[in-house]
Amino acid sequence: MQTTLQYVSFDRAADYYDETRGFPPGVEHEAVALFVEAGQLTPRSRILEIGVGTGRIALPLAPRVGTYLGLDISLAMMQRLRQKDGGERIILIEGNAAHLPFANHSVDAVIAVHVFHLIPNYMDVLDEIRRILRPGGMLLHGWNDRGTENMLERTWREATSHFEETTRPISWEKRQTFLSEAGWRSVGSELRHSYATLRSPATYVQHLRERKWSQTWRMTDAQMEAGIAAVEAYIAANHLDPMLPTQVEATFNVQAFLPPN
Ligand SMILES: C[S@@+](CC[C@H](N)C(=O)[O-])C[C@H]1O[C@@H](n2cnc3c(N)ncnc32)[C@H](O)[C@@H]1O
Repeated sequence: MQTTLQYVSFDRAADYYDETRGFPPGVEHEAVALFVEAGQLTPRSRILEIGVGTGRIALPLAPRVGTYLGLDISLAMMQRLRQKDGGERIILIEGNAAHLPFANHSVDAVIAVHVFHLIPNYMDVLDEIRRILRPGGMLLHGWNDRGTENMLERTWREATSHFEETTRPISWEKRQTFLSEAGWRSVGSELRHSYATLRSPATYVQHLRERKWSQTWRMTDAQMEAGIAAVEAYIAANHLDPMLPTQVEATFNVQAFLPPN
């Protein structure tokens, strides 16, 4: 285990997170229905979301369960959540997922969406989740996927993948397998909802330049330039109109896991 752990608070992203990560209108209800199905959640369920952020998942899901606890290291992100309609439903806790302030066997399910890859000691987080889950309770892991077929994102990833080791503890390639590799047992099949967003190539490049994505926060200027140059070269070589918004296919995915035996 590393001795100096660097956690990635999203304080710096609170002002633009919803604009860059939000679901298109209506899709959020389809997305959270996957958690209800995967975790057999009911209006009596007591659940915890680690890395609750601005409530992208919590706000549409909270009305469908009994108690919704949300924990995050970023107060600024949770302040955004609190200001939104329905925000008062969620019990917010400022804290680190590696030290969960909850009793053993005290929650029915834990939700985690785009958070493990930010936490260097994510194995400690898994131990904590295992400790607080009631017997039979599940970890519901969710993630957006829009990189596989999108050529701009693929180009960026290929140009920067060799920096990944220093920028994130779980590589993009392992985003679906790291829990099984840690001994967590998948239950049922992966549930998926497909949707599409509109984005121009110029907006994508601008977001990279502005370091809107957490992956870029630990990259050097030279690493950033190498990745952006590759994306711009792709745009030029394929005669893409930088200003023309095009459809970006995406999926939201949920897989349920039981703790290791
Ligand atoms: C990419 S955002 C995801 C937010 C939300 N789950 C969603 O899907 O929109 C990651 C969130 O995890 C939080 N986070 C990062 N490391 C954390 C840790 N060690 N403990 C708790 N929260 C953490 C960040 O502050 C941020 O709000």
